[in-house]
Amino acid sequence: MRLDTFKKWGIKANPFDAHPPADERKRAQLFTGREDELDLVLSHMGQERAFLVYGLYGVGKTMLMKEAQRRQKLHSKHLLTPYELYVTQVPFIQVVLKGIAEELAKAKVEEAAETLRLLTEGSESASVERETGFGAQLGIDSTHVKAGTDGKRMKTISKEGVLDPYAKTKQLISLAAKKDLSLFIVVDEVDRHADLAQVHEIVGDAKILKEGYGASIMLAGHPTNVTRRLLTDGGGTFIEIPLHQMQADELIQVMIRYLNSVRDKRLDDPAPFRLEAASWVAQFLASNQDFTPRLFVLACQYLLDMAAKDGLEWIELEPVRNYWPYVQVKLMQSIENWDRTYHIIRIIYKRRGIREDADLDTLVEILGGRYGDFEAVMAEVRPLVEAGILVAGDDGVRRQVTLSPILEDQYLQKLFATEETPDERTMRDIFGPDLDHYVSVIRSPEQLM
Ligand SMILES: Nc1ncnc2c1ncn2[C@@H]1O[C@H](COP(=O)(O)OP(=O)(O)OP(=O)(O)O)[C@@H](O)[C@H]1O
Ligand SMILES: [Mg+2]
Repeated sequence: MRLDTFKKWGIKANPFDAHPPADERKRAQLFTGREDELDLVLSHMGQERAFLVYGLYGVGKTMLMKEAQRRQKLHSKHLLTPYELYVTQVPFIQVVLKGIAEELAKAKVEEAAETLRLLTEGSESASVERETGFGAQLGIDSTHVKAGTDGKRMKTISKEGVLDPYAKTKQLISLAAKKDLSLFIVVDEVDRHADLAQVHEIVGDAKILKEGYGASIMLAGHPTNVTRRLLTDGGGTFIEIPLHQMQADELIQVMIRYLNSVRDKRLDDPAPFRLEAASWVAQFLASNQDFTPRLFVLACQYLLDMAAKDGLEWIELEPVRNYWPYVQVKLMQSIENWDRTYHIIRIIYKRRGIREDADLDTLVEILGGRYGDFEAVMAEVRPLVEAGILVAGDDGVRRQVTLSPILEDQYLQKLFATEETPDERTMRDIFGPDLDHYVSVIRSPEQLM
């Protein structure tokens, strides 16, 4: 049924995916907007610089940085573009070194292959370190970036040990220079594992890289303490690139590009979505500063699936409005541990958001009885932020977590009327009688194939 509808629409599959594709060509095909930010980066080409990109979860930091690397490479064939996720608790310079070594090893530099071996040998696991706690319980893979690295664990290598990571980094960069190769290094998700104690080190390393070793570096993080401190303590080390919300017309472009990626012939409109329906979704989201392109793409994915199940010819405004409550349910239930999710979002809803200065009782309640501070709460709720159910931002002064504006108050009020997790009947009463029909389609689309 669903596949038949896709065929009828002239698309091969549901193209919407809330995480950047690993394939560079595909990513470039989807990439939309952000011209000012790219211009800024490109205007510094050929000079050693350090950039810091920051913005909400899913605003497009990874997409932007990878596109910046791609465009620079178009201009200069002699550019190496390491991309590393800052996922391990090793010194920052080692993450950088690994990225450089990987790229140089690909360019058949013996020395680099040897360094890579030293960095990763004896690492017991080839998979990215999984989160423990709530994220793991929820079955969420915390490393969302498909375009990431192989995620090999590294052991910490001390200055006194076999390898001085600074000396080695410097040596590899100058080896590259001898081959007329320069480096534009990206380290993504810096604030995920780094803590405030590392701010000094990261700023220092960024400075050494650009001023001492002659490489450019670009970091990305969320508007958290760590990212802020990189800017304030950085003393002008970084060129700031704040990433903002996309405009509604850009979101529609994103939609068109995604759909074109699964069509034989490119179109200039978002068929099978009627433009009016696409605009409604885009405007609904773009009218709120806490919305991100990731949430938009996620909503498109759900809407397209529901319409496919119904076998619609065109996705008009009316069905989109009818589907909208179910999109919200789907979002909330995208996390496996629904009871725990419900508990947390209920508290946050009741308190109208949790700010940094929240009282201990509230923090403990969110942590399910454990003692912890606001940082602990942030760590606990991160999967919900990543899933787009919560938003981590600030009220202008203090940091806060609030409910995602995709969740409409008219439903939340009824949903959180009681403390108990609502059963399916209650959910149906609140969201609509077709709940099973649509939420099941989204839960396990493969069943329909
Ligand atoms: N410039 C863009 N063009 C097209 N799609 C985009 C763009 N920016 C973001 N998106 C969409 O939003 C999704 C999230 O983007 P991305 O992963 O780059 O965000 P992020 O800021 O790196 O998120 P996180 O904070 O979780 O790392 C992408 O998978 C893509 O669907
Ligand atoms: Mg990212």
